[in-house]
Amino acid sequence: MGPCCWSEYSLGNVERLSLFEGWNSRQMQALRQEVIDGALMVCREEMAQLDCQDVAYVGRDNAPVLERVLERPPELLDIRLDPTCNLRCVMCDIWPMERRNVLGALLTPENIGNFFPRLKAIRLLGGEPFLQRDAFEFIQRVRQINPGISWSFTTNASYRQIDRVIGTLEGLSLDKVTISLDSLRRDRYEAIRIGADFERVMGNLGRLEEYREARKASGRPFSLGISAAIMPETWREIPDFVRFCRQRRLGLFFLPVLKPLEHSLRREEKPIIEEALKMATLLSNIFPEAFTSLLAFLRKVHQEKSV
Ligand SMILES: C[S@@+](CC[C@H](N)C(=O)[O-])C[C@H]1O[C@@H](n2cnc3c(N)ncnc32)[C@H](O)[C@@H]1O
Ligand code: SF4
Repeated sequence: MGPCCWSEYSLGNVERLSLFEGWNSRQMQALRQEVIDGALMVCREEMAQLDCQDVAYVGRDNAPVLERVLERPPELLDIRLDPTCNLRCVMCDIWPMERRNVLGALLTPENIGNFFPRLKAIRLLGGEPFLQRDAFEFIQRVRQINPGISWSFTTNASYRQIDRVIGTLEGLSLDKVTISLDSLRRDRYEAIRIGADFERVMGNLGRLEEYREARKASGRPFSLGISAAIMPETWREIPDFVRFCRQRRLGLFFLPVLKPLEHSLRREEKPIIEEALKMATLLSNIFPEAFTSLLAFLRKVHQEKSV
């Protein structure tokens, strides 16, 4: 268990602690104390590099409602049930992880009775969530416990079973579906996302766009978007992504790769960083929400390369 999906700080093992115990674990209390005192250590790097919005709460004046122990439950749970994936993306450190399924540990009587009924939102990550039998079971079980939970998914969309996926989404209060698409060029995309099929992903994107329109027409809208990992191989496509997503009314988020270094813009010389920063600054006027993390990252790298 961790405080956020970017952090490697451990709150304890989900197989030994209930989710609510993790929420008020010794480690979580220490992290909250840092936020209250305005003396961040645990998340300092992530907050600086990714423009974390929670930085607004740091310090006693800004965190008056924060206490070391919180009786109120968390509102949002990010879950990675299993690292299992059909792809082997070059920048990803998830797929090589040991397979460990946490479904049984999550759906304990304590979590079912005390945690999930009060939860407001779940974001399901992976591995690839829509290729894991346990993910479908988890969704159905949680839906029975608390049908009001708002769901978000991040998926590679490189699979045949799009009908099953849409059938599952149909039963949910759905907030967002994000497709990870790092390049709009077939050759580049497939060189990054090893094992993926570009045509199939584009076909599945089309199916999800149709589904978005159908749900909108029946008064149950959700947002559909693209997440593009920005690396030395992909940053020059930023304008293409902006055009593509505006034309198709898709959300867009640029995710800077921080590590491994060989796939991070951090490895580039200063003139490249300056060019990327100039491009991102200009286009952020058109699509501000797409650039929040990328701009923070590029500014930080630019600053590092200027000293
Ligand atoms: C780990 S994947 C899990 C969900 C699904 N398998 C997918 O690819 O969409 C979640 C997101 O992390 C991104 N990602 C993977 N490796 C990354 C890295 N080294 N740095 C930043 N983002 C990364 C992916 O592009 C994807 O958008
Ligand atoms: S599809 Fe997602 S989980 Fe799978 S290897 Fe790629 S980034 Fe990692």
